[in-house]
Amino acid sequence: MRMIQHSAYELPRKRLLRALENHRPGHMVFVIGPSGVGKTTMRRSVMQEMFGDPGHWGRGRTPAVETFAMLPNSAYFSSRELARSLLDELHAPTLSWLLEGSNLSEQVKISIGNELAECRRVWIDLKPKRATEGEYWGMVQRSILARGCKYIALDQVTALLVNHRDTSPADHTLHLMALAEASGVMFVMTGVQSAARLWEVHSELRRRVVTVWVPPYSDSRPEDWGPFLRVLQSLGLKYNLSKKDLLMRMAHDILAATGGIFAQIVQLLDRAHQVAYEQGRDRITKRDIEDSYYSDSDLEAIWRDVRSFESVMRAGDVSQRAKLARTRWRMTLQSENDADQP
Ligand SMILES: Nc1ncnc2c1ncn2[C@@H]1O[C@H](COP(=O)(O)OP(=O)(O)OP(=O)(O)O)[C@@H](O)[C@H]1O
Ligand SMILES: [Mg+2]
Repeated sequence: MRMIQHSAYELPRKRLLRALENHRPGHMVFVIGPSGVGKTTMRRSVMQEMFGDPGHWGRGRTPAVETFAMLPNSAYFSSRELARSLLDELHAPTLSWLLEGSNLSEQVKISIGNELAECRRVWIDLKPKRATEGEYWGMVQRSILARGCKYIALDQVTALLVNHRDTSPADHTLHLMALAEASGVMFVMTGVQSAARLWEVHSELRRRVVTVWVPPYSDSRPEDWGPFLRVLQSLGLKYNLSKKDLLMRMAHDILAATGGIFAQIVQLLDRAHQVAYEQGRDRITKRDIEDSYYSDSDLEAIWRDVRSFESVMRAGDVSQRAKLARTRWRMTLQSENDADQP
């Protein structure tokens, strides 16, 4: 599907662009939102806007790399594996952030693909076969400098929360910040709300973290309603519906069935399309959409995630805090005034 510039996407995207343009080594940007809300898509699109033309990078240089904080076969997060995958990306990048959903011409993509294949061939022979965690991180640091790399994107960072008893999640954050400071890179992490635990316990970390919240469309924010209807309107143009305004008529139900999460809405419509198709129809009916809702227990899990995201966002959002403080202070002032009255 082509990108949809919907409003829940546009504002956080602007914030992310601003946060990355304000390059501060050792600082971290966290993009936080429920799964499927569009964090990776948004981050890639910002990086494409900033560094989309590899012709300007210079030979052997890469302004940014991207990897995932995966949990390897052992159940715990491994800092050594992360270093190893970063080292691979620095020497033989996959460049998914640049290539996926990009506007580059086929010809440019093919020539990039050829160059990357060549990098991989060379790297297979050069890559260290056995190194300690410390040695890997040392090599990562040197490679960052050699490649002129300025940003490291790390997805699914909640993996960093799964640790042996002797490591705390904040240890990883502190370690990555020190690396970033020493090598002049900025990390941009994406994850779901529990990733907030990676920085919130240490004020020293918090000061260097910029958070970009990516909320779903919410029925608790009246201002979300119009934009949500517009999303349904633009999605409605991409599907064959029994009535032109079918999605608008079902707006409340669709919100309830998807948690207001963009990818969930798209998946709901894809499932409904499949239901119609299996019954030999090419138009999606109200019934097809209803038959495609998740089970109650799945929906409950989606809403649990959404609620927990919203409460973490409220707790971390300065403007919300300020609003709260204003109302509380106004109340105090008011009661003082009242007390002054004869
Ligand atoms: N603005 C958009 N227009 C069109 N498709 C989008 C848009 N944003 C996201 N998508 C699609 O929605 C799906 C989920 O997006 P994405 O992977 O970016 O979510 P995420 O927040 O990173 O999820 P996760 O937390 O699971 O990694 C993808 O298939 C993506 O292509
Ligand atoms: Mg993602």
